[in-house]
Amino acid sequence: MAKQQTFVMIKPGVLQRRLVGEIITRIERKGLRIEAMKLIQISRELCERQYAEHKGKPFYEGLVEYISSGPAIAMMASGEEAIPMMRKLAGATNAADAEPGTIRGDFAAITQKNLVHASDSPESAERELGLFFTHEEIHSWVDGNEDCLV
Ligand code: CMP
Repeated sequence: MAKQQTFVMIKPGVLQRRLVGEIITRIERKGLRIEAMKLIQISRELCERQYAEHKGKPFYEGLVEYISSGPAIAMMASGEEAIPMMRKLAGATNAADAEPGTIRGDFAAITQKNLVHASDSPESAERELGLFFTHEEIHSWVDGNEDCLV
């Protein structure tokens, strides 16, 4: 199994809903490692770069407006198969399709405001992590409990 690093964003509005701890708890309980994290007001320009692949889609303008509307939390989570694992924890993009038990399935009623973003491929993860973090902001750590993660 490959060790991966993935980009996770807790979207604007989640601070106001007091759900940040709930989401971080789910990531930690799964066994992923948080190795970078910051509270950030995402500029429109950074948002446009992050979501460049969606430019031209009907929801794009609203998405950029929303993501740059208030503080968000940017994170790097790592672990074996961290990219698909984090996508599973997040749940389906469409709020109506997200299964109960997932972050979106439990807390999202509006697709645009689906609480979290998680990279969908190693290429996206590398690109998105590069947009949000410098090397100095990533702090790898030794997990003395790794053998206990059965
Ligand atoms: P995310 O995983 O961050 O990737 C792109 C985002 O665009 C997605 O989550 C949603 O917030 C948003 N999005 C995708 N599809 C739609 C849609 N049909 N309507 C509104 N927003 C959408």
